[in-house]
Amino acid sequence: MTSAPKTFRVKSFGCQMNVYDGERMAELLGANGMSAAGEGEDADLVVLNTCHIREKAAEKAYSDVGRLRREDGSKPLIALAGCVAQAEGAEAQKRSPMIDVIVGPQAYHRLPEMVAQAVRGGRPVDTDMPAISKFDAFPKRKRANPSSFLTIQEGCDKFCTYCVVPYTRGAEVSRPWGDIVAEAYELVETGAREVVLLGQNVNAWSEDGRGFADLIRELAQIDGLERIRYTTSHPADMTDALIAAHAEVGKLMPYLHLPVQSGSNRILKAMNRSHTVETYLATLAKMREARPDIALSGDFIVGFPGETEEDFTATLNLVDEVGYASAYSFKYSPRPGTPAATMEDQIAPEVMDERLQRLHERINTHQTAFNRATVGKETEVLIERKGRYPGQMIGRTPWLQSVHVETDAVPGDIVSVSLVSAGPNSLAGVIPAKAAA
Ligand code: SAH
Ligand code: SF4
Ligand code: F3S
Repeated sequence: MTSAPKTFRVKSFGCQMNVYDGERMAELLGANGMSAAGEGEDADLVVLNTCHIREKAAEKAYSDVGRLRREDGSKPLIALAGCVAQAEGAEAQKRSPMIDVIVGPQAYHRLPEMVAQAVRGGRPVDTDMPAISKFDAFPKRKRANPSSFLTIQEGCDKFCTYCVVPYTRGAEVSRPWGDIVAEAYELVETGAREVVLLGQNVNAWSEDGRGFADLIRELAQIDGLERIRYTTSHPADMTDALIAAHAEVGKLMPYLHLPVQSGSNRILKAMNRSHTVETYLATLAKMREARPDIALSGDFIVGFPGETEEDFTATLNLVDEVGYASAYSFKYSPRPGTPAATMEDQIAPEVMDERLQRLHERINTHQTAFNRATVGKETEVLIERKGRYPGQMIGRTPWLQSVHVETDAVPGDIVSVSLVSAGPNSLAGVIPAKAAA
């Protein structure tokens, strides 16, 4: 028996959906009488909201658990949440006896009750995927970020051969239309100017014949909501209706994150991706026709089992052909229980390292080129937070570029900025009046 926790800290790893869940868990704990521990302060309860997508992420979670032991030998109450919790279940407590509570991504509504059980000496585990929605249990928000996440869809039915998500997040489920719209209003009323719609396959959202594009058009009606973004999309669900929305809905930002994973059709097939390089490029071409200034982004895996130098070269060629504004690349990581983990011809780590390095360089070149091409433009920037220096603020352009600018504007303001210089990851801007002076 320990005393009931008064303060908590939630640490989220992995994708934006985990960030969203982490924020909602924090609100839920707050509504149950706990308060967030201050920076650098010991918390009575620590929630580690983990990611299982690649090996290192899970290892990191376990080492983080270990590091929660305090100098005097005591430890906070520890709840393991997220995808490692879902995948490992009670096993995680065997691997790390310091863990008190194990709660999977669909069971967060039970977190306060499970913490109370742990206080009484229990070691509760809940990795069920119940029909009732965790979303209903989350309390109303008090304050939203200028750019706020809103989860609209969870789970994945695609079963790419390398990926754990279908196992950790379950089948594709769309949140109800009415709940999403109500939450968007709540976000705007509490400070959001932009919502980022989230889902493992966000563009697969549907309800009673209505699709993702219909939902976007509905949200665009909300006064005070200025920008709509979404992530992550699957190429198979890029409908013409969604592409048309990019041409017609001004609030829908000109940015598309559309992971392709490889530039080789042979590898794409082995990955069980349902697209080919040709169908992927055709989708992007339609998108560029609808919205010529669209910034394109993607994900790549290097070193998938059987990947030859020729396959990898095809990936580099695809990067050149698309000219990504940004892209993420990962070394293939075998995940237990996935088909690719037992495929022949696993690629040697040195080969993966070397390919990743080459891909990084290639992507970097395009990112820098994209950013440089916007220098000289005047564009709207949504101010999100303070920068490192006094008077400096950081915000984002419609193309999701990060911009540093000296201004009196506060988070949530949308200001006109002249872009004056660019690096691979961010730009510097000035307020136009100053530029003229
Ligand atoms: N649903 C999204 C991606 C979710 S996972 C989609 O299909 O595009 C985010 C990214 O992690 C993936 O796009 C992929 O590039 C990477 N990833 C997933 N499993 C991986 C693995 N086993 N090894 C390395 N990277 C992986
Ligand atoms: Fe994973 Fe593929 Fe589903 Fe994306 S579409 S979450 S990569 S299984
Ligand atoms: Fe990671 Fe789970 Fe997201 S595995 S990427 S936290 S869905």
